[in-house]
Amino acid sequence: MEIISSIPELRRRIEAFRAGGAGPGTEPGSLSVGFVPTMGWLHNGHLALVRTARKADDLVVVSIFVNPIQFGPGEDYDRYPRDLERDAGMTSAAEADLLFVPSTAEMYPVGHSTTVEVVGGLTGHLCGASRPGHFRGVTTVVAKLLNIVRPRRAYFGWKDAQQLLVVRRMVRDLNLGVEIVGVPTVREPDGLAMSSRNGYLSGQERLAARAIPRSLERVRFMIQNGERDAATIRREAAGIVAAEPLLAIDYLAVVDGNTLEEIERIRGTVMVALAVHAGKTRLIDNIRMEVGG
Ligand code: PAJ
Repeated sequence: MEIISSIPELRRRIEAFRAGGAGPGTEPGSLSVGFVPTMGWLHNGHLALVRTARKADDLVVVSIFVNPIQFGPGEDYDRYPRDLERDAGMTSAAEADLLFVPSTAEMYPVGHSTTVEVVGGLTGHLCGASRPGHFRGVTTVVAKLLNIVRPRRAYFGWKDAQQLLVVRRMVRDLNLGVEIVGVPTVREPDGLAMSSRNGYLSGQERLAARAIPRSLERVRFMIQNGERDAATIRREAAGIVAAEPLLAIDYLAVVDGNTLEEIERIRGTVMVALAVHAGKTRLIDNIRMEVGG
């Protein structure tokens, strides 16, 4: 695996692969590039994305860039964990081909003035309401990265379901011509969704955080057993989280899994999504279900 920090150099490497890599029996240009964007401090959730790409694509490109413009004032941009050596070892073990680690100046040179924003309901609810400007930062950097790498497929985790849906909408609206592949959430043995931010938690907070997946599993069970009233589901999940004094709910919503609008009846594609503060750490999680009738 090679580590590359310059945009022109990365482009050269990918274009050379695309042009020259075709062996006997393959059409020129038939090789596929798969792309996994991350902010580093990798864990098994990220690696599931890399492994999924490895199975489907001929060249696997991973990026690590802690994108300053998706962090709000007072959020954790400065203390976000960074360790390139550790991350490079993990990316290489997951058999990625290229690791792209641009500097902030490489991505946002002086005079950078363009942003990409998905407007309306998809970005207005949930994390979009709690973190104004966050998704504009995400879509701007993802649009840039997709233009740099020009992959056939890009891989995103369902852990950040709203981000995945917002990126899909951007790709559709701007005709970016890349398939956005969703990968299921990878969890710790006790159910907590893996996250680069879990390391911020104190021992007590980490224990309290188990109530997050517990609440989601409880309402999954209720829905599977026929509960169809969204307010009842919401109340049940909120009660389980609120019983932990170290947790404070930012939002807990029962929404349509495609539009992210709040719903009253459980039907079709449904998501229960929540964001919770444990001390200074903000954690998000969700479940997504197909419900007939
Ligand atoms: P980051 O939080 O590093 O996550 C990178 C990718 O890994 C995202 O697609 C995220 O959904 C996925 N991921 C994180 N935890 C996961 C888990 N437990 N199971 C499955 N997938 C998981 O999300 C970002 O970075 C940034 O916003 C980015 C898209 C890179 C733009 O800056």
